[in-house]
Amino acid sequence: MKRFLLFGVVGLSCAAFLGLGASIAQQGGDQRVAEVHHLMEGISKPHCSALGKLLKAGPKSERDWQHAELHAALLNELGFILMQGGRCPDATWAKAAAQLRAGSAAVYEAVQDQDVDAARAAFKQVTRACATCHKAHRK
Ligand code: HEC
Repeated sequence: MKRFLLFGVVGLSCAAFLGLGASIAQQGGDQRVAEVHHLMEGISKPHCSALGKLLKAGPKSERDWQHAELHAALLNELGFILMQGGRCPDATWAKAAAQLRAGSAAVYEAVQDQDVDAARAAFKQVTRACATCHKAHRK
């Protein structure tokens, strides 16, 4: 069921991506408009705080585990998006984005195994990634 849901989401995102790709090609330019603060308010903040709350209390139902999986997956995606579109200015940024990808992938794996202790440990790597980048780049 979980896997089925995941493939559905991936399938839909790919369809959306192909559609977007075609329209970008038609317009002949990069139409990417999201600024870093949009990504932070729209992806980092909601998904990081929701995941933190879920792991602190401990997921209580299948639905909680599915939500934890969703938050980890989107934080992982953020780790890639932060490196695209000319957003990465230096090595500290790149290191923090890599930390975010690795930490969120480890949370994702632990959530698949419904291992709350491993998920909490990996989540620390996620919040370290936020801190690493903010220390250097958030004014
Ligand atoms: C690779 C760099 C990087 C990483 C990783 C990163 N951030 Fe940020 N974050 C920034 C920058 C740069 C800003 C300042 C953006 C601005 O003001 O234009 C920011 C700002 C923010 C803001 C304020 C947004 C606003 O518009 O007021 C929040 C909230 C935030 N980050 C949360 C997080 C969380 C939570 C994480 C970890 C899951 C995270 N960030 C990881 C670079 C990063």
